[in-house]
Amino acid sequence: MLDGARLARESAPTGNPSSPHSEGRAARAALDAARDRAAAALGLETREVVFCASGTEAVNLALLGAGRRLPAGRSVVTWEAEHQAVLGAVRQLRLEGRAVHVLPVGGGGFAEPALPADAGLVSLGLANNELGTLQPVAEVAAAAQTQGALVHLDCCQGPRWVRPPLEVADLASFSGQKLGAGPGGMLVARPGLRLQPLVFGGPQERGRRAGREDVGSAAAVAAALEEGARGRDRRSAAARPLAARLRAALAEVGGLLTGGEPRLPNYATAAFRDVRGEDLLLALDLAGVAASSGSACASGSLDPSHVLLALGLSLEEALGSLRLTVGYDTTAEEIEQVFHVLHSLPRHARS
Ligand SMILES: Cc1ncc(COP(=O)(O)O)c(C=O)c1O
Repeated sequence: MLDGARLARESAPTGNPSSPHSEGRAARAALDAARDRAAAALGLETREVVFCASGTEAVNLALLGAGRRLPAGRSVVTWEAEHQAVLGAVRQLRLEGRAVHVLPVGGGGFAEPALPADAGLVSLGLANNELGTLQPVAEVAAAAQTQGALVHLDCCQGPRWVRPPLEVADLASFSGQKLGAGPGGMLVARPGLRLQPLVFGGPQERGRRAGREDVGSAAAVAAALEEGARGRDRRSAAARPLAARLRAALAEVGGLLTGGEPRLPNYATAAFRDVRGEDLLLALDLAGVAASSGSACASGSLDPSHVLLALGLSLEEALGSLRLTVGYDTTAEEIEQVFHVLHSLPRHARS
């Protein structure tokens, strides 16, 4: 967690923002301030911000909230390599009788901007969470707009490294966890866009999310958004050569590099034919390197990565995936350490 976010979370008032007494008023003021800061960090109006419990909830509120209100005959469109939060929400819409298109991605993991003629709501990630590939957001949004379709941008992955182009989106979701804020989330909804809530009850969050707000989480998300926006280009420039070095190391030890360019500056991903991702993770963990295999949500299970299968990799390769990311404070020395660990790994993991 980022230091500023931790401090904001820990120092937030604990009262209920809906209570009229002074404790409640202090919480309301802190929540309002968090909303102002989050909106300012992204160049938005405060009324566009809906604080949620997680990125998954923000994605669900965007897709179910707008998808259930689409006129008859308009479909929801997304791509096979999107996050499970997106794929799960569109599956639910399909169960409810909505037309849904889950389009294929090419070998690089990119969405194609050609959209079905009935598109009414299009959901695309800013960056793929497993590969780091940066999606052609401007092209897809332009295609959607010419067809009169709403655009949801899943910004859970990447906003610490690239500026999310919110000007092309009607809806955008953020994950507290991924921002470095800890548990939390945020949905951005264009003014005037009506959403059917997921939870019914009080008028919190302008009627878009009923229930007692989590002021600490909102304050942490706002602080992390501010910190993420500060020095983003400098951080990205510093991470790029380190991630390139990691990719070189992965290729040298027999990894098949996955995902195309452009990608987030801090990502290095590969698939291995003869080593299981879990074995690689364990060996790296023992050496003090925190890595991921497949999506974090799927780690710990033996399920192959749906993203790698969507790219056309075999089941064996999809089970042997490895994702290494450079952090804010990763040093060149640490990368060299990983390089040496990787060189001793596959043999060790295979045996
Ligand atoms: C692209 C993407 N969308 C959605 C989510 C879900 O966010 P959360 O874990 O906060 O529910 C994630 C989390 O990893 C993600 O990477």
